[in-house]
Amino acid sequence: MIETTLQDQVAIVTGAGQGIGRAIALRLAREGMHIVIADRVPDTASAVAREVEALGRSGLAIPTDVAKADERTRLVSETLQQFQRLDVLVNNAGVQRVALPQDVDEAHWDVVMDVNAKAVFFLCQLVLKHMASVGSGRIINIASIAGKLASTIQHPIYNVSKAAVLAMTKTLAHAYAPQGIRVNAVCPGIIETAMQDQVDREFAHVTGKRPEEIRAERQARIPLGRAGEGDDVAAIVAFLAGPDSRYMTGQALNATGGMVMF
Ligand SMILES: NC(=O)c1ccc[n+]([C@@H]2O[C@H](COP(=O)([O-])OP(=O)(O)OC[C@H]3O[C@@H](n4cnc5c(N)ncnc54)[C@H](O)[C@@H]3O)[C@@H](O)[C@H]2O)c1
Repeated sequence: MIETTLQDQVAIVTGAGQGIGRAIALRLAREGMHIVIADRVPDTASAVAREVEALGRSGLAIPTDVAKADERTRLVSETLQQFQRLDVLVNNAGVQRVALPQDVDEAHWDVVMDVNAKAVFFLCQLVLKHMASVGSGRIINIASIAGKLASTIQHPIYNVSKAAVLAMTKTLAHAYAPQGIRVNAVCPGIIETAMQDQVDREFAHVTGKRPEEIRAERQARIPLGRAGEGDDVAAIVAFLAGPDSRYMTGQALNATGGMVMF
């Protein structure tokens, strides 16, 4: 099927109640899409749904814990019931936990891998069933430069989870290309969100520095001279969702201000 404009198409964005996911939801709505906001926090999901509606598009909040199989199934079936179509899935929901490798326990592994990796794969699987039946669709997975570099030793399992996202993006891209479905990833670097604030606070605690010092040090490592914003990531997602990227699949595009160049 030839891809055309995003106007009146339907996207699910997970973790869209705040941060990068909210920016993606609003950007895709500005492109003319109807948006399903899937976040485990009902209030923020509803608030973003109202913001989507204010842009003249349908915004449907479906409170969802993506780590739970029955909630993933309900998310997809309610979306199809409401809109009779599903064109784009953005797997954005994610969590991070800090621990040195020797201190990681199985509970740490499970929570990070369940949300960041397992939920992404199985939500892809559910949505791909529908997309394959209509012969079109795009999936965009929000990974991280952590999946390429694995450089922060304080986030060992987060790094593993994001590498898993990159591997499944490539595998699914290969598997579903013949059916007209494209699967790509975005690797953000340092983006100003609540998650990044939490990382700063935790690093400050570990190093004995102030969070502002940590922030200044990391900004100094960004060639473009500033941390990113949700909109910087959302612009790349809109490109990957839309027709201008029609010849791209299995890619992992960086949004890092030049911090990572491969
Ligand atoms: N902020 C950064 O610098 C950065 C860098 C690289 C990658 N990322 C990735 O971008 C994505 C978004 O990060 P953010 O910075 O906006 O984080 P954030 O913590 O500000 O927002 C994450 C959202 O996901 C939701 N969420 C968490 N677990 C969920 C679950 N089980 N089910 C449904 N929703 C859930 C939260 O409620 C929240 O609304 C994540 O996958 C993160 O790993 C962020």
